[in-house]
Amino acid sequence: MRFTVAVCLSVVLLTSLAMSQNKYTGVKFCAACHKSGKGGTAYAVWQKTAHAKAFETLKSAKAKQVAKERGLKTAPHESVECLRCHVADGGTGENIEKTYKMEEGVSCEVCHGAASGYKVLHSKPNSLEKAKAAGLIEGDMTGKSCEKCHNAESPSHKEFKFKEMWAKIEHSGKEKK
Ligand code: HEC
Ligand code: HEC
Ligand code: HEC
Ligand code: HEC
Repeated sequence: MRFTVAVCLSVVLLTSLAMSQNKYTGVKFCAACHKSGKGGTAYAVWQKTAHAKAFETLKSAKAKQVAKERGLKTAPHESVECLRCHVADGGTGENIEKTYKMEEGVSCEVCHGAASGYKVLHSKPNSLEKAKAAGLIEGDMTGKSCEKCHNAESPSHKEFKFKEMWAKIEHSGKEKK
């Protein structure tokens, strides 16, 4: 009995470990199917949002000003203090595949999960449920996951209103054409 419990526990632990170690793969992979056609236009929409430029923003004069005020010793686009909300892997350089680029900013995998564990499954037809079990996240409509970055620790934070903000990045296929 105790043995069974121990085995079950380690299976659970190993599974969650495997999930948390999924690696960021980069948007090129998603773009292949989500630009137009059956996968919808999510990529085309995302590309025009502020999220796609979030890394670039850290090179702006404004970013440098903010960094100076906070006494940062490195450039904002090289500082984890800023990168942690402006790119997918938090600027750590850990859990990334070769195809991942920081330049992609707040990319798909920030909200839909790092793809290394589900990319093969998700490339096959009718495998949505399996892909989800392997780490693909449908998207959170409560706004909670947005507030991991849209909070008072952001130097430019304003009150976060999910409905208004979601309308600006809506790409679920229900957005106005
Ligand atoms: C080989 C093509 C292909 C690739 C590559 C691909 N997708 Fe998809 N994806 C699809 C298709 C097709 C659907 C619609 C699936 C369906 O309804 O069965 C879909 C559905 C989704 C959904 C909706 C899930 C749901 O619950 O309705 C999300 C989210 C998603 N993809 C995210 C991504 C992300 C993020 C990437 C990149 C890491 C990606 N996809 C890469 C083809 C692809
Ligand atoms: C990983 C951190 C992160 C997460 C999670 C995140 N964002 Fe953002 N978001 C940013 C950053 C950084 C910017 C600023 C990008 C820029 O201006 O270069 C931004 C900008 C925006 C903007 C444009 C700014 C504006 O005021 O119009 C909208 C809209 C937005 N986010 C909506 C959302 C929504 C909705 C969610 C949740 C579904 C979300 N974000 C989740 C980091 C994040
Ligand atoms: C807690 C997450 C978070 C951190 C940390 C963060 N940002 Fe941001 N940043 C955001 C979000 C979210 C936005 C979008 C605007 C908003 O709602 O605050 C943003 C927007 C920006 C903008 C564009 C907004 C404007 O006023 O033009 C600049 C520039 C910027 N950040 C620079 C920085 C710099 C420099 C650092 C590091 C010192 C940094 N950010 C750290 C989340 C963060
Ligand atoms: C800031 C967070 C965020 C980013 C970045 C983001 N998404 Fe989403 N995505 C969501 C949310 C939230 C939904 C809505 C889920 C729902 O309607 O339940 C969604 C919906 C979708 C859907 C449709 C799901 C359905 O039900 O049909 C697809 C496909 C998708 N995203 C793909 C992508 C791709 C591809 C990228 C990158 C090019 C991307 N998303 C970037 C948060 C995000």
